[in-house]
Amino acid sequence: MDIETLKNNLDSTPAFVLDEAELARSLGILAQLRQQSGVKALYSIKSLPLTRVLELAKPFVDGFSASSLFEALLAKEILADTGSIHLTTPGINYAELDQLLTTVSHLSFNSLSQLQRYHRQNRQPSASIGLRVNPQLSYLEDDRYNPCRLHSKLGVSIDDLWQTTALNQVQGLHLHTVFACQDYRPLTESIAKLVNYFGKSLKNLEWINLGGGYLFNHISNHQPFIDLVGQLNKDYGLSVYVEPGKAIVGDAGCLVASVIDCFSSDGKTIAVLDTSVNHHPEVFEYGWQPELHEHAAKGSYPTILAGSSCLAGDLFGEYRFKAALQVGDKLVFTNMGAYSLVKANRFNGINLPAIYGLQAGRLNKLKDYSYQDYRQQWFTDN
Ligand SMILES: Cc1ncc(COP(=O)(O)O)c(C=O)c1O
Repeated sequence: MDIETLKNNLDSTPAFVLDEAELARSLGILAQLRQQSGVKALYSIKSLPLTRVLELAKPFVDGFSASSLFEALLAKEILADTGSIHLTTPGINYAELDQLLTTVSHLSFNSLSQLQRYHRQNRQPSASIGLRVNPQLSYLEDDRYNPCRLHSKLGVSIDDLWQTTALNQVQGLHLHTVFACQDYRPLTESIAKLVNYFGKSLKNLEWINLGGGYLFNHISNHQPFIDLVGQLNKDYGLSVYVEPGKAIVGDAGCLVASVIDCFSSDGKTIAVLDTSVNHHPEVFEYGWQPELHEHAAKGSYPTILAGSSCLAGDLFGEYRFKAALQVGDKLVFTNMGAYSLVKANRFNGINLPAIYGLQAGRLNKLKDYSYQDYRQQWFTDN
């Protein structure tokens, strides 16, 4: 279905539309990479935990990766015992550890203190235990995304790890160092550093999880990745996992909104939409402008698209249009599959977008929210 037909077929906005054909396309690329390299692929459910996505992804992946007990429980509900569940988080809460250990198959502690505490408790190992390592190679300019920033809270620094015997106390290592990366250089350099530090000791491990952050579906030359996985398999006997999120769902979601007001402010045209940065908080948090299908670089009608909350900075940015926007026009923000819906909130009482699946040219409503959902969230018991 093309975007104009999609807009005509939607009965209400704001709407989050999951393009199931696009999802199948990225899952197909991942499945091919799995076949070519022998890597095991997990879908990182934090990017979009919609169970429709989990069900569609299940046949293409070896399991899911989770970052909390709730994500792990959801993953388990969908997978039952048909795949692996990997978990790593700085937020391991010891009150939840028993439940975590019986829910996931692989748990990577984030720090030496977490690992030591686990060993002091002499628990019966149920999950395979790993440790997140920070290779201390930074590839991201914005430190808010950079797990290898100075004083990072994410993983044990490779230098610290080298000075301990912790590698003997785990079956696996986990690393995750980039975001939306389109070449494998950071990965090959990070693994080269790991091999340089630990060499043959890596043979004592069973697995390595290379994390997410790579846009497999936007990379044309996979050979460096295939070689790397082959090396880790062959030289060290490691099972190699990856856990992408955005690469699987990023292109598979869009947000459709309607113009509900238009006016001029200090000489610029403002169009207020029936959505808000509430529905994609990273636009506000990181100050970036989302892709808009209707934007025409040479259009003669520059317009600031504004969200409908009370926040002055609830703005998507200035776009250009071929014709002046009118109340009722529908606009489509693309590439919204990852980290938008999952972070959406109801600030100002603005409802969450309804969720649709687009499958074989048909739109199916998967879920919508009403005042009752808002009321249930905020009504206290006494
Ligand atoms: C540990 C870990 N694994 C996997 C992912 C998924 O990353 P992406 O969606 O960029 O592929 C993240 C994202 O923050 C992460 O922190």
